[in-house]
Amino acid sequence: MRSIFFILLILSSVFTLTHQQQHQPIKTVVVLVLENRSFDHMLGWMKKSVNPSINGVTGKECNSVSTKTICFSDDAEYVDPDPGHSFEDVEKQVFGTSSIPSMSGFVEQALSMSQNLSETVMKGFRPENVPIYATLVNAYMVFDRWFSSIPGPTQPNRLFVYSATSHGSTSHVKKQLAKGYPQKTIFDSLHENGLDFGVYFQNIPTTLFYRNMRKLKYIFKFHQYDLKFKRDARNGKLPSLSVIEPRYFDLKGLPANDDLPSHDVANGQKLVKEVYETLRASPQWNETLLVITYDEHGGFYDHVQTPYVNVPNPDGNTGPSPNFFKFDRLGVRVPTIMVSPWIKKGTVISRPNGPTPNSEFEHSSIPATIKKLFNLSSNFLTHRDAWAGTFEHVVGGLTSPRTDCPEVLPDVVPLRRTETDENRGLSEFQGEVVQLAAVLNGDHFLSSFPDEMGKTMNVKEAHEYVKGAVSRFIRASKEAIKLGADESAIVDMRSSLTTRSSIHD
Ligand SMILES: *[C@@H]1O[C@H](CO)[C@@H](O)[C@H](O)[C@H]1NC(C)=O
Ligand SMILES: *[C@@H]1O[C@H](CO)[C@@H](O)[C@H](O)[C@H]1NC(C)=O
Ligand SMILES: *[C@@H]1O[C@H](CO)[C@@H](O)[C@H](O)[C@H]1NC(C)=O
Ligand SMILES: *[C@@H]1O[C@H](CO)[C@@H](O)[C@H](O)[C@H]1NC(C)=O
Repeated sequence: MRSIFFILLILSSVFTLTHQQQHQPIKTVVVLVLENRSFDHMLGWMKKSVNPSINGVTGKECNSVSTKTICFSDDAEYVDPDPGHSFEDVEKQVFGTSSIPSMSGFVEQALSMSQNLSETVMKGFRPENVPIYATLVNAYMVFDRWFSSIPGPTQPNRLFVYSATSHGSTSHVKKQLAKGYPQKTIFDSLHENGLDFGVYFQNIPTTLFYRNMRKLKYIFKFHQYDLKFKRDARNGKLPSLSVIEPRYFDLKGLPANDDLPSHDVANGQKLVKEVYETLRASPQWNETLLVITYDEHGGFYDHVQTPYVNVPNPDGNTGPSPNFFKFDRLGVRVPTIMVSPWIKKGTVISRPNGPTPNSEFEHSSIPATIKKLFNLSSNFLTHRDAWAGTFEHVVGGLTSPRTDCPEVLPDVVPLRRTETDENRGLSEFQGEVVQLAAVLNGDHFLSSFPDEMGKTMNVKEAHEYVKGAVSRFIRASKEAIKLGADESAIVDMRSSLTTRSSIHD
């Protein structure tokens, strides 16, 4: 009797599964990852005026040091400089003086860097200063329990987004970034399953930090955002996975739009607006799911405890000494917004339903969900995406796409009052992007490169260099394909410094 019941139960769950998959309306997932902002900093105040069911802030969230207590306020503006967010900085922010993640050390950690920063990290934006998000949170869906994958900086977290591991890195490991990370990515899984993907980049595709992505077989997947994104969307040609990379260099007339301090979030808002409006007008709109998230919290306060129980190590790698991090804790909560005409207005999603009782939404949820949505036969990438919550059900609640979705989002007013400074030195991240460019360009063999180069270049020079390197690499790869090179080969360039005269754009 009992086993019959069991069989019935299994049959019925198989039935619901296939049933759902047949009706799964999403044919293209568009992913945009911005930089270095926590959930409370960007969206915490939306609890008050946009949607009370959001786990946001009330102003009673405080951090103390012996000399003062600072509570969370709503006057975030333009931020410069960048607060701390290395692995060690985040450990201090999250733990403070306690033994569990009490989120009590943000002020103290910031004070150790500068007096002013301790107030900066305890500020969130008023919804009217991030009007695009206020509109999207109201019209679509926000995740209020989505964490960065590791309590550390940009690069390891970005690596998790498409590969569910940072291959043991907890910091920015210049050599490994330049060489390219070896792990399998969701792009490889899509390719194995005959599905297409595209990376629409503005300065340089940082997805080239995965070594596989430099292979000839993928060279036609990289597109200039300005030339191709709108055109592909208009023609209904967006691939199954479309990745949008923001502008990482802040130039006059072409301001950075990655939201990284000191860059103005108003430009990030403009990018989100443009991407949204482009998708909204596309013939593919009814088959699209847009995912907007942030790589990590950038040192800004968030009040939700970071998960630290039963978080699986992705692949057996541990971090370097002295911490030997086991990849068994998640990072700080970050803003995640999703948009699709299949999403009910004003939805707030918190915890996932499995696959394990401790599963959470984190960046590995993106490859895990892509695998599910597109029924990929490839295995999970690591133990982490096998564990992460998936969100394919966010488009399962309606029987037809909504017809009340806004076509145009509000205008965005700049928050920064100063001029773009193109002569500024490079941030660590920009330095790494220059190193990547140096590898693509073959200049890393020169002894003075690329370390020195990153130190002496300003933003404007770095931008020019990176642009040249990327187009040279892509052009050479396309040539190599014409000459019949193996599709798994990676083009190795000779230094551009000896052949620069032959380059034309
Ligand atoms: C810190 O704040 C004070 C007062 O607002 C300001 O005068 C000073 O320039 C700031 N210092 C830095 C390093 O931003
Ligand atoms: C974000 O933070 C990292 C450190 O975690 C920093 O090196 C990097 O400059 C920031 N990102 C960008 C795009 O600059
Ligand atoms: C999307 O679906 C709605 C509802 O069926 C329909 O009115 C609309 O024309 C569709 N839009 C596109 C771009 O196909
Ligand atoms: C999903 O893929 C499996 C094989 O990997 C196949 O048997 C099944 O029919 C597929 N389901 C759908 C709904 O396409």
